[in-house]
Amino acid sequence: MSILRIGVLASGRGSNFQSIIDEIESKRLEAEIALLITDNPSAFATERAKKHGIEYLVIRPKEYSSRDDFFAKIAEELKKRDVGLVVLAGFMRIVGKPLIDAFPNRMMNIHPALLPAFPGLHGQRQALEYGVKISGCTVHFVDEGMDTGPIIIQAAVPVFQDDTEESLSERILRCEHKIYPEAIKLFSEGKIKVEGRMVRIKGYTPFDTHIVNPTIKER
Ligand code: GAR
Repeated sequence: MSILRIGVLASGRGSNFQSIIDEIESKRLEAEIALLITDNPSAFATERAKKHGIEYLVIRPKEYSSRDDFFAKIAEELKKRDVGLVVLAGFMRIVGKPLIDAFPNRMMNIHPALLPAFPGLHGQRQALEYGVKISGCTVHFVDEGMDTGPIIIQAAVPVFQDDTEESLSERILRCEHKIYPEAIKLFSEGKIKVEGRMVRIKGYTPFDTHIVNPTIKER
């Protein structure tokens, strides 16, 4: 079987992008990152790409006459490089139809809350303001809604009484860095099957790893 080629879309810091690079470089994940695309020329993710010799493109929406053209261009660049999985890593836009149609059930996103709770921006702040005692993160396939696609993996994270948005975000982020590469690995091994809203994963039990008090290193 040929190696999975990943296309990453990121708008900012890119720590999730880094977690995928690290898993690949340490050979825990058999895949290669074919391309990083960003909509933000000053995204720190581009520095990470340079450091690791990964090709990157800056594609800015304002250079396209419509939202559809912008997303069609992204799809075209990914297809050109034979990408088999698109990974949204802090890509702060709702994905347009031309890109979704080009990668059906082959595009993942990570969200910093336990979906369907707290979709959209600032999932961590929404969780704090609501007063939940447990939050977490979710890897899901991307559909046309906002954070509504079929759920692949989730990890639960405690919310402490004295948490700030920053402290909770940091705790959740450490889990993101764990479950995102894991979901990609399951995909690369052909273990994921989507049946409507239901994602079936061969030989998988979430209880091994996903009620987490994470202690893994910062990225
Ligand atoms: C992450 O916390 C990710 O879950 C979130 O943005 C951050 C990006 O961090 N994404 C969303 O909120 C998408 N709705 P990173 O750039 O360091 O990976």
